[in-house]
Amino acid sequence: MDCSDNARRAGPVKETSFRGAVVKRGLLAAVLVAASVAQAARPYRGGAVATAYPQASAAALEMLEKGGNATDAAVAAAFVAAVVGPYHSGLGGGGFALVHDARSGDTKVLDFREVAPKAATRDMYLKDGKVVPGLSTDGALSVAVPGAVAGYLELLKAHGKLKPAVVLAPAIAAARKGLWVTPRYRTMAEGRLACLSRDAEASRVFLVKDAQGQWAAPPVGHVLRQPDLARTLASIAKGGAKAFYAGPVAKAIATSVQAGGGILTQEDLATYKTRGATPLEGRYRGHRILTMPPPSAGGVAVIQVLTAMEQLRPQGVPFRDAEALHLYVEAVRRAYVDRAKHLGDPAFVDVPLARLVSPGHVADLAGAIDPKKATPSASLLAPKEGVRGSTLTDEPTTLTPEPEKKNTTHISVIDKDGNAVAMTTTVNYGFGSCVVAKGTGVLLNDEMDDFAAQPGVPNAYGLVTGEPNAIAPGKVPLSSMSPTLVFAKDDSRRVMLAVGSPGGSTIPTTVIQVISNVVDHGMDVARAVNEGRVHHQYLPDEVWVDKWGLEPATLSALEAKGHKVRRVEQWGDAEAVYSDPETGLRFSASDPRNEGAALGQD
Ligand code: DON
Repeated sequence: MDCSDNARRAGPVKETSFRGAVVKRGLLAAVLVAASVAQAARPYRGGAVATAYPQASAAALEMLEKGGNATDAAVAAAFVAAVVGPYHSGLGGGGFALVHDARSGDTKVLDFREVAPKAATRDMYLKDGKVVPGLSTDGALSVAVPGAVAGYLELLKAHGKLKPAVVLAPAIAAARKGLWVTPRYRTMAEGRLACLSRDAEASRVFLVKDAQGQWAAPPVGHVLRQPDLARTLASIAKGGAKAFYAGPVAKAIATSVQAGGGILTQEDLATYKTRGATPLEGRYRGHRILTMPPPSAGGVAVIQVLTAMEQLRPQGVPFRDAEALHLYVEAVRRAYVDRAKHLGDPAFVDVPLARLVSPGHVADLAGAIDPKKATPSASLLAPKEGVRGSTLTDEPTTLTPEPEKKNTTHISVIDKDGNAVAMTTTVNYGFGSCVVAKGTGVLLNDEMDDFAAQPGVPNAYGLVTGEPNAIAPGKVPLSSMSPTLVFAKDDSRRVMLAVGSPGGSTIPTTVIQVISNVVDHGMDVARAVNEGRVHHQYLPDEVWVDKWGLEPATLSALEAKGHKVRRVEQWGDAEAVYSDPETGLRFSASDPRNEGAALGQD
């Protein structure tokens, strides 16, 4: 069984059908009806791209057609994404990119993630020793210093061929011309209606008044123009990053944030700096893998879990085999325990990175897995008092992914020369903080929620991080974003797969499963992206299975080993490009769980 474009054709699935439901066998019948044969990705002789928006993919393709390379294409797509998917990413956000240069064989990492403002303090989201709900996700106090504009422009300068004015042109045109509201936009705006309504500027830009005069999510088909954002983009195209980090835009950002009770200053913006890094390297069944190092925790999990799977099953894993899935879940559980114990911004804390991804350490983790039964998460690392080991109770929980509130977006490009970009970029929660800097069209992130507001207490994704991820001024909050490049088996300088996804805590497992689907199961990239997903994250102590997930017998086999299984509607939006090492043809795939498009050059 696999999911396919049919899921999209079938229209939006009722979000309530599975959310929070413990597996009920009867429900599976409905799931099976939705299953069908996946469409294969089509081959391209030139460059190929996958993004979560048709307009962003078209802009990327336009850059390739104009003689630009993978970086020009990815950056053009990222700027368009800021316009057409403001709920996912934007100028007020930040992210990570891996850029591979085919000629030199070199891969560079750019970390343009947000940092905590200088006035941030460890306990800024606590009152009477308790986390104040919403304070780190909604409104001005949740805003970290944005890095996206600096990041996109530095990528272009270091690796691109085209001028900023050319690369930004599609985004400026999209903001002027307007976008028509899609089902995804509407769902996201509805999910964040209360938050957006509290900011007058955000309401004006992203909502409409209903018949009763109340702010409402615009209807599907409504044309949303963003003239302020067009002006800001045009000034960036002309004046570079300074047009954002200094002058009237910076002033408007600081003034709007402070008016809402936030702490971001013009000085925070003026002193923002991106960071370079060495990609984190691993191997999987003969393929070299490069991924994002800390301050992302994602890459560490990707390398640890793939290494563990190869150690545990050197001959390969049968597809959806309950025994192999058990080992996978146990490996993931242990990777997320390591995350909670050790990971944070390496500029602030000592992260034992080399040890964490070393074959010896992974062998210790893998060797402690009981092949017969699930290890209770609490026995590996005791949860803080009051944090439930499992959310499988009758109580409503905030821990199940709510697609309409989550966001982030991923862009994958491999150009005709084999240059590749994997870039994941975000404003964190849906529509970020819901604060728009007056007169600029810039929607600001709520990335501060990725810190441990109180070490050991779960964040919006139910993720528990520890002391190394405590808040400090200038510090980067720990991320799950995992832009990843997989290289050809017989040529470790040639990119075979560029992949990444949104999905908060579920990002690393989405990336791991797409890689495994290609490498272990030889799937076409579209099918690899479409396949059902299985996730664990240490806490809550439960296995999440999406609606395209596992057959009843497999679920029963996992439960018989002591796993608590939660059926979750869906998560993630993998965007991937595959370059066939044998034929040199490229194939791209955009996750049918979202509204994106995979394109390429003939
Ligand atoms: O950096 C992170 O891990 C989060 N801010 C990403 C948020 C996200 O992917 C939400 N997605 N559905």
